Amino acid sequence: MRIFAISDLHVDHQLNQQWVQQLSETEYSNDVLIIAGDISDNWTHLQATFIALQNKFAKVFFVPGNHELWIRRGNYTHSVEKFEQILLLCKQLGIITHPLKVENHKNGAGLWIVPLFSWYTLPEEGSHSLFKTKPGHDRTMEVWNDFHCTKWPDLGGLTKSEYFLGLNARYLEKTYDAPVISFSHFLPRQDLIFSTEKERGGMVFKDPHPYFNFSRVAGCQGIEHQLRKLNSIIHVYGHQHRNRDRMVEGVRYISCCLGYPRERRSHSLLPIYTSQELPMMIFDTEEPLP
Ligand SMILES: [Fe+2]
Ligand SMILES: [Fe+2]
Repeated sequence: MRIFAISDLHVDHQLNQQWVQQLSETEYSNDVLIIAGDISDNWTHLQATFIALQNKFAKVFFVPGNHELWIRRGNYTHSVEKFEQILLLCKQLGIITHPLKVENHKNGAGLWIVPLFSWYTLPEEGSHSLFKTKPGHDRTMEVWNDFHCTKWPDLGGLTKSEYFLGLNARYLEKTYDAPVISFSHFLPRQDLIFSTEKERGGMVFKDPHPYFNFSRVAGCQGIEHQLRKLNSIIHVYGHQHRNRDRMVEGVRYISCCLGYPRERRSHSLLPIYTSQELPMMIFDTEEPLP
């Protein structure tokens, strides 16, 4: 049994939808797929993608990303209502959104997969933000679609990131009797936002959004606290559309996203995985632990 990961499928783009459809119907039938959010804000596309992937993999795990919580389409009072409806849809379809131990029946090896719900902490919301200043004019949230496409109820004085991380609290006290792989949509650490020279491979990239500072909406340090509490050996995340595979203080952080077709063409995903290399195999229960 192998564990595969992917994020940011954005199947509103036809090429991405085709990528989902062309995945083998037989190759992954004993394997697990982790989807770290951002399939689509469109309910029909979301449902069709779940069904397609559920038919190809033995088990599919998912956490919603920011795009899923956009309510520009459909009759939702607010984004939390849509979040809850998505969890219900997952339950109906057998898509897993809670911790579950997966076992290799051949050798008895087990592994816990733990989904962590999350949102980002804005710089003005506190010290858990991943915000880092960057030179030049910052148009703040006016250019960020979440600002226009999500709507929030009264969260009882909590920030959005506190609210979603709070939903994971019950998973943090559990005893995990096998290695843990966790995943979230948003970034757990500020250092992951920035590529290393090695990751850039000598290439020079122009800032695609000179008037927006992505670190404002990147993630939240609370995710890092939670994955450390779980003793995760691997943490998968998405959202930034920048691929990473980095060991930091004993945890392997992996971001492997499909991203937008234009990003694949411009190689901005860094490093670019070809569509044949995705989803990325992140663990094989027949191999020894790293
Ligand atoms: Fe995305
Ligand atoms: Fe995202």
